[in-house]
Amino acid sequence: MRRSAVWLTGVLAFGTQAGERSVWPEGEGREIAERACSQCHDPVVITASRLSAGQWSARVDAMLAKGAKVGDDEIDPLIEYLATHFGPASPR
Ligand code: HEC
Repeated sequence: MRRSAVWLTGVLAFGTQAGERSVWPEGEGREIAERACSQCHDPVVITASRLSAGQWSARVDAMLAKGAKVGDDEIDPLIEYLATHFGPASPR
């Protein structure tokens, strides 16, 4: 009788985590921004911006016009998130 050895190959996916560090700061609205804005942008386009709440509001309107997928009830939390983390005077 032939015995075949069973080898545990254990292919563990090491090394995939390093690149997944999120650049989005924690906070309410993060998930919305990450999903809706990453569709077209590298996050740095947003995280390097320094805009007031009013400017973010206008910017988000412009992005909605371009096709950003943000639900009606997600717009306010999104603008608040952006204005909180990427406001004119916020430190990096
Ligand atoms: C459908 C593609 C698309 C999506 C989704 C999108 N954008 Fe944009 N965005 C663009 C394009 C195209 C431009 C360049 C033209 C312009 O400035 O209007 C732009 C420009 C910008 C700029 C100005 C960049 C600069 O260099 O001045 C900011 C800031 C920005 N987007 C933020 C956002 C945010 C925040 C979101 C998520 C709500 C978002 N975008 C989602 C297409 C998109």
